[in-house]
Amino acid sequence: MTYNNLFLKQEQEILIVTLNRPDKLNALNIELMKELQDVVATIYDSKNIRSAIITGNGEKSFVAGADISEFLKAKDGKIVAENGQILFSKIEKSPKPIIACVNGFALGGGCELAMSCHFRFASPNAVFGQPEINLGLIPGWGGTQRLTNLIGKARALEFLLTGNNFNAEKALQFGLINYIFPQNELIPKAIEILNIINQKSSICVEETIKAVNNFYDKDTNGMVTELYSFEKCFKSNDAKEGIQAFLDKRKANFKGH
Ligand code: COA
Repeated sequence: MTYNNLFLKQEQEILIVTLNRPDKLNALNIELMKELQDVVATIYDSKNIRSAIITGNGEKSFVAGADISEFLKAKDGKIVAENGQILFSKIEKSPKPIIACVNGFALGGGCELAMSCHFRFASPNAVFGQPEINLGLIPGWGGTQRLTNLIGKARALEFLLTGNNFNAEKALQFGLINYIFPQNELIPKAIEILNIINQKSSICVEETIKAVNNFYDKDTNGMVTELYSFEKCFKSNDAKEGIQAFLDKRKANFKGH
């Protein structure tokens, strides 16, 4: 598939996905969402990709939201919401870690996209918010749920109901982002941390993501997930290798089985 709205670069086993509609502040139109869906499938399927970064092109914006100009053409709000929810859940459940490098505005669907990633780094000029209420809407791509999970009910309700934005410092204080880095260090820092993770057993990475995600899943018992995930790791060759490497006082060489 050729992409009109994003470009891809691979650094070792890390796929860097850059959303590319800078003249529209990388707003998510239908075409871009389809392209992102395709890329997420590639992240799941490709044996050469162990983790990914999502960022926006330019120095001003990560993503300024869903493309508002397409809203009036859409007939069914449930389908608009569902399409985004399915894609962002796929990102959240990806067995391979995905970091959002928030390089500016992360508003509406942009904030929702960043929140669906496993964690977030942001530049000092990053701006977060769910301004949908100013359009007579509410977030439909998971914003009401993930913002509440990440920053707590009272703060989430404040920002969802006022539509006010908040800056990178506040996002750090609220626990929405892990770190603030200068804009030109965002990707290198994400690569640095993903290179550490990529050396671990991919079974452990996948099972950790699954177990942590299940903490937020009301239909599953996270402790039970942890039990089976631990068992899966415990019987893997990677665990044998990791334990033996410790005893041999050498670095483990994990193979993912
Ligand atoms: N959907 C579609 N187009 C958007 C967009 C969005 N969410 N956000 C920005 N754009 C477009 C603007 O229409 C403008 O296009 P134009 O040059 O063809 O007129 C271009 O991107 C630049 O945006 P502009 O508003 O001129 O930049 P700014 O620096 O003055 O303001 C924002 C930046 C982010 C504050 C402002 O663009 C904004 O409020 N965007 C919408 C945010 C939002 O409500 N998101 C939630 C959507 S559900």
